[in-house]
Order: sequence, then structure tokens, then C-alpha cells
Amino acid sequence: MSREIRLNAFEMNCIGHQSPGLWRHPDDRSANYHTLEYWTDLAQILEQGRFDGLFLADVLGTYDVYGGNADAAVRNAIQVPVNDPLMPISAMAAVTKHLGFGVTATLSYEPPLTFARRISTLDHLTRGRIGWNIVTGYLDSAARGQGRERQTAHDDRYDLAEEYMEVVYRLWEGSWEDGAVLRDKERGIFADPGKVHKVTFEGRHYRVDAIHLCEPSPQRTPVLYQAGSSPKGRAFAARHAECVFVSGPAAGVIAKRVASIRALAAEAGRDPAAIKIFSLATLIPGETDAEASAKLADYRRFVSEEGALVLFSGWTGIDLARFRADEVVEHVRTEAGHSALENITVADPTKRWTVSEVAAWGGIGGIGPVVAGTPARVADWMEEWVADWMEEWVEATGVDGFNLAYALAHRTFSDVADLVVPELTRRGRYKQEYRAGSLCTKLGGPASGRLGESHPAASFRRGRPTAS
Ligand SMILES: Cc1cc2nc3c(=O)[nH]c(=O)nc-3n(C[C@H](O)[C@H](O)[C@H](O)COP(=O)(O)O)c2cc1C
Repeated sequence: MSREIRLNAFEMNCIGHQSPGLWRHPDDRSANYHTLEYWTDLAQILEQGRFDGLFLADVLGTYDVYGGNADAAVRNAIQVPVNDPLMPISAMAAVTKHLGFGVTATLSYEPPLTFARRISTLDHLTRGRIGWNIVTGYLDSAARGQGRERQTAHDDRYDLAEEYMEVVYRLWEGSWEDGAVLRDKERGIFADPGKVHKVTFEGRHYRVDAIHLCEPSPQRTPVLYQAGSSPKGRAFAARHAECVFVSGPAAGVIAKRVASIRALAAEAGRDPAAIKIFSLATLIPGETDAEASAKLADYRRFVSEEGALVLFSGWTGIDLARFRADEVVEHVRTEAGHSALENITVADPTKRWTVSEVAAWGGIGGIGPVVAGTPARVADWMEEWVADWMEEWVEATGVDGFNLAYALAHRTFSDVADLVVPELTRRGRYKQEYRAGSLCTKLGGPASGRLGESHPAASFRRGRPTAS
């Protein structure tokens, strides 16, 4: 098979995730995000389409940068209300066998021990299908909700994250030795205390003196996702991530980031091709081009432009309510996400964005291309998008697939599963069936189901020279 194209679905436990206003469309289901059926139906649709994973975003604050308060966010349901992303995963795991779950959790506001336990619990319940999107947050409102004045400065957040990763690796990989769990009913020994070790850690930010509370789960360390694209973010991703999410308005913008992440991974002693990189896109397939265009035009009628500006203001840290509609957005340094602002300012030297363009363009799917057409046209675009990068940038690198946002929940994903997936499969660019094993293995990792030896987490395994 030619290089496989991989698919992730991008969702959040909220309404209209990255398509503000479209919850009002009669075919959109996202206002039912608070029901179990919403999630179990979604998981089944994605598994029928053999998606690699469902990626669940999360924030712990409100988008209150726009206009200086959260009114517009609340009025338009812009990622608020937002329920806990971990909770629906067990229910989705119960109705699927292969679909992976990449759940976003910020490390800024939860101690490593309790977080490590929650992830291990889900790794058990999903039988090794859990992934963690490592984030540090970008909203000051989240910091205020946790009793702080403002969030930690952008680059310092990544330093904190480095230390956090060491603690959770020690808990997941180094606390319980392989073979510690005996389940020996005859001798009455459940686990051998000689093989269960305390993690004793004293760092600048975290102190731990405890054993990991869970017995080893299938993957131990979950599949690690990361989505920061600033220089600090890329260096962090290159060291830790197995999957990286990138987003940008044009192939050239993303290609540079992809090449940089792979080069940094090689410098860090990892196989650069093993990191799976997914770029954001929204696909609107139809039986004919005319039908697909009509669908997209119909969806655009429901976009809330105010909602799109609320999102962009939150991502960039810039209050776009203070600009005129025809004003060009200029680049400044903020403590929110750096790459989100670069995307609409300096990332593409040929394009400057006015506020009204951001509002119109960002209304469906966020900062990624929206592609409407027949399954053949959409598949052509996907193949080109992946191939362009391979040819124009570093040989044999490029994105591995797409992180697909929805215009309408669940309609967009079922359209992709019904129309685009068969076309990609026919072209030999999509798996005929899932690979057996853990999420790590399905994504090309070792058959053992666990992280490979070149990953930094492996150095904390017991019985290795570097283990503490
Ligand atoms: C596709 C994508 C999804 C993201 N999802 C989340 C999320 O759910 N929660 C979050 O706090 N940050 C999320 N982020 C933000 C990143 O984790 C990161 O904080 C942000 O890109 C700023 O980092 P940077 O300045 O290094 O680019 C996402 C970013 C991208 C590109």
C-alpha cells in the first residue's frame, strides 16, 4: 500500500466545538453533548469508518478575551458549557473494539499522582486505547478559576511540563515492575511488595513520595499527543509526542513546522518518521460537486461570526472586539498560544488577515482548510496535501493524516466514513482493517503495545541501567 493516510476526529465535550453557530442547524446533534447516546453513537460511526482515534479537546476556563468578558462566549455556546472529557470514554469503549481516545488534560492544575491514576484507569477500561494530549492551557480565565492571578508565562509552562512528564513516567513505568502482580489465589498473594516501588521525586515544581496507585495497564504510559507549534512547543513535542496535531491556513505554513518537529526528533535520538503528524481540516463530501457546494453554502448560513471571533480572541490572547472589521490583525507577543496568532499574521508572508476575514473563515472547523466536493475530489486533495509536503520539504516526511473537525455533529463524520473512506481504501491509501493491539501498536508502535525503547519514558523502566 502507498503511504497510509490516517484519520482522527476532533471533538470536545461541548456544543459546536470549532464551528460556532452551527449547533442551530437542524441536522446538528452537538446540543445533545450531555447524553451518553451522543458519545456512543459517535464512537460507533468513527469505528465503522476505521478512524484511528477520537481526539477530545478541553479547556478549564471561558473564552473571555473577546470584549473583556465571557458574555459572547456564553450567548453563543463557545466551548462553554464544557463537560469533563474523560467521563464519556468508558461508555464509548464499551461499544467499540479498536477506536483510540486521545483525551486532552492540562497538567497545570492537577497533581501528577491523581492524574496518572485517572489515565491508568482509562487505559485498563479501554484495554490499552487511551492517549493523552499534553497541554498546559492558554486561558488566563482557567488560571483565575484555580485561584491564580494569571497563567504561568508561555515558555515557563513548557519547563513545568518537562518536570511533570518525568514524574508521570516514573509512576507509570517505574513503580510496578513487570511481574509484580501475581493474582495467586492459592498462596493468597495478590502482588509482590518487593516489586512495587515508591517514586521519590523532589523537583522545582513537584514532590512525590508514593507508589503508583494502579497496577500496570496495557500501555502503562498512554499514547502521547501534543499540539504546540512554537519553538518551545516543537522541542517538547519532538522529545515526548508520538502524535502531533498541527493546524494552519496553508500547506506551506504547516510544512515548515512538520519538518522542524521531525528534525528536532532526530536530534533527540528518536525515529523522526515514527511521530505521526495530523493536520487540521474539515471535509464536506457530497455525491456530486454541486451537492457538496450546496451543503457548504447551507452550513455557512448558520455560522456565528461573533462566535468565531470569540474563539480566535481566546486562542491568540488578543481582543478582536477592539478592532474594526477591515483592520489587519498585527503580530504581538502574548502569553496565550503563539502559533494561533502567527497563523493569521506572520506565518504566511503572502497573506494578511483582516478581522472580518478571520470571522468568516474561522466559522467552520477553526484554522484549517475546508474542502467540499465529490469523494474523488476530496481524496485527490488529501493525497496532494500529504504528497506536497513530502516532495517540497524533507524527503520521506510530511503529515501522516488529518485531524478532522466537524461542521455538523455527527453528520460530517458519517459523511466522511460513508463517502471518503471507501474512496481512500479503493486507492490503497487507507487501512482495510484495524491492526490488532493497543493504540500505541495500531499507530505503528512496538507489538508489545508499549512505548519503544528510544522514548524518554522507557528510561524509567525497572531493570534498565538508567532506572532509579
Ligand atoms: C489542533 C490543536 C488542538 C489543540 N487542543 C487544545 C486543547 O484541547 N486544550 C488546550 O488547552 N490547548 C489545545 N491546543 C493548544 C496547544 O496545546 C498549545 O497550547 C497551543 O498551540 C500553544 O502552544 P504554542 O504556543 O507552542 O503553539 C491545541 C492546539 C492545536 C493546534
